Amino acid sequence: MTLNRKKPEDLRSHRWYGANDLRSFGHRSRTAQMGYHASDYMGKPVIAVLNTWSEINSCHTHFRQRVEEVKRGIWQAGGFPVEMPVMTLAEPFQKPTTMLYRNFLAMEAEEVLRSYPFDGCVLMGGCDKTTPGLLMGAISMNLPAIFLPAGPMLRGDWHGRTLGSGSDTWKYWAELRAGTITEDEWKGVESGIARSPGHCMTMGTASTMTSAAEALGMTLPGFASIPAVDSRHAQHASLTGQRIVDMVWTDLKPSDILTPASFDNAVTTVLALSGSTNAIVHLVAVARRAGVPLTTARFDELARVTPVLGNIRPAGKYLMEDFFYAGGLRALLAELGDLIDGSQLTVNGATLGENIAGAAIFNDDVIRRRTHPLVQNDGLAVLTGNLAPDGAVIKPAAMEARLLRHRGPAVVFRDYADMAARIDDEALDITADSVIVLQHAGPVGAPGMPEWGQLPIPQKLLKAGVRDMVRISDARMSGTSYGACVLHVAPESFVGGPLAFVKDGDIVELDLPARRLHLGVTDDELAARKAAWTPPKRPFERGFGVMHQLHVTQADKGCDFDFLEEKAATGGDPDIH
Ligand code: FES
Repeated sequence: MTLNRKKPEDLRSHRWYGANDLRSFGHRSRTAQMGYHASDYMGKPVIAVLNTWSEINSCHTHFRQRVEEVKRGIWQAGGFPVEMPVMTLAEPFQKPTTMLYRNFLAMEAEEVLRSYPFDGCVLMGGCDKTTPGLLMGAISMNLPAIFLPAGPMLRGDWHGRTLGSGSDTWKYWAELRAGTITEDEWKGVESGIARSPGHCMTMGTASTMTSAAEALGMTLPGFASIPAVDSRHAQHASLTGQRIVDMVWTDLKPSDILTPASFDNAVTTVLALSGSTNAIVHLVAVARRAGVPLTTARFDELARVTPVLGNIRPAGKYLMEDFFYAGGLRALLAELGDLIDGSQLTVNGATLGENIAGAAIFNDDVIRRRTHPLVQNDGLAVLTGNLAPDGAVIKPAAMEARLLRHRGPAVVFRDYADMAARIDDEALDITADSVIVLQHAGPVGAPGMPEWGQLPIPQKLLKAGVRDMVRISDARMSGTSYGACVLHVAPESFVGGPLAFVKDGDIVELDLPARRLHLGVTDDELAARKAAWTPPKRPFERGFGVMHQLHVTQADKGCDFDFLEEKAATGGDPDIH
């Protein structure tokens, strides 16, 4: 793709700085107030560096330093960097869930870019929702944009054992509850599981979404796999700063990069990594911002032909650090061969195919060959049936195979508090064949669709050796979780989806090969239960939550706000004079 180079007077920032009027006097004098001479910025691309760093985001600790490296690159390339702090979305700390605020970050990113004199932007994210939030906002504004992935943290370590984020938390928590490890040993896991800056190093939502961003073409090639503390991460931060300046001069925008084929590449990548189920919600939302009609059904279609090649926890054995040493995402994409459309443009101006040409696998147990995949297909699956008319999601690669076809009686919890109060009750009528159902855990009802979907197995069954059961909810599940968990049931129970009408003892049938989720009651009975149902009171009475509960879409549509999800008609530039 040949792009014409802009002249300085074509820059968007020229409208703030270049005019000879009272407003521009104000912009220039106040920039001088910050210690910049006109030669620092006049006629140069002004680059926003949207930084999700904060003192409570442990995954982005290194962004305080990385932003300096990004700025160094921008200066080197003849741009003018402006760091802009935006909502941090710290996954472990923000309640009830960062998902409630993903759209908040997207709105903030879009409006910051719209309202200030920026010509392009670097998006610094990684911890789960920061990646989709930043991408959604930048796509809607459609200025030249490049994504800087935080990079995974180092492997966890405890007593000589490798620990993986999330996955080993759930594993050792189950062992503690089963009485097979001590409190002291549990404390040891706590101090060793997260021992460096960087996002979760399993194939959780963070690793999944940063890899998807690279496959989309929004990140410099190879960057998503580099551990956060590796010096090559810092080098790539500087290169990212250099690159965005040229993207401005050539006006290379998200709309030039994001196509149905580039989203197929991202979906195929997620599937080949056995990535987080959260990627379905996020990629659908990101695609709709770009005007690409990506559906959950497309994930299922591609899952049937995409082998799982990334042998990474929770579905596999290794961690992101191993993945990087084995060749990283470039090597995996190259191995996918004809399943990837290499003709798609990326942020460095080259095609994805050019970027991955010659990439080699250095350990083919970590990155499997197509002739020897971890799983032949079905990294994710989309289910439908009378219990989920608009779909539900499951991760077959991370569940016990005996449950792929299963029928069992429902044990229903009306909300999270009900489940927490009763799940370990010795008197609870539940067996390993039961199907655990959690209601009111969706986008509106929970609120914010928290990651509650890996519903706990009752302690008495854990002690009896049960480690997996069929569990169903309208919640999401952490990408680091595992088990036969049916998630994202749409429409959600809180707004009157069929999940609201399941009763204890109803027979639920999961048939993964048929992609079916069925409640064994008649249509008439289901209709009668719905007629007798009273909608629950909505959770928010003020603030951002009111906007959320009025406008959030269901999981199959990406949980964006209905007034934001359409492709932006224009950049919506303000009249600055
Ligand atoms: Fe930040 Fe997992 S807590 S990515």
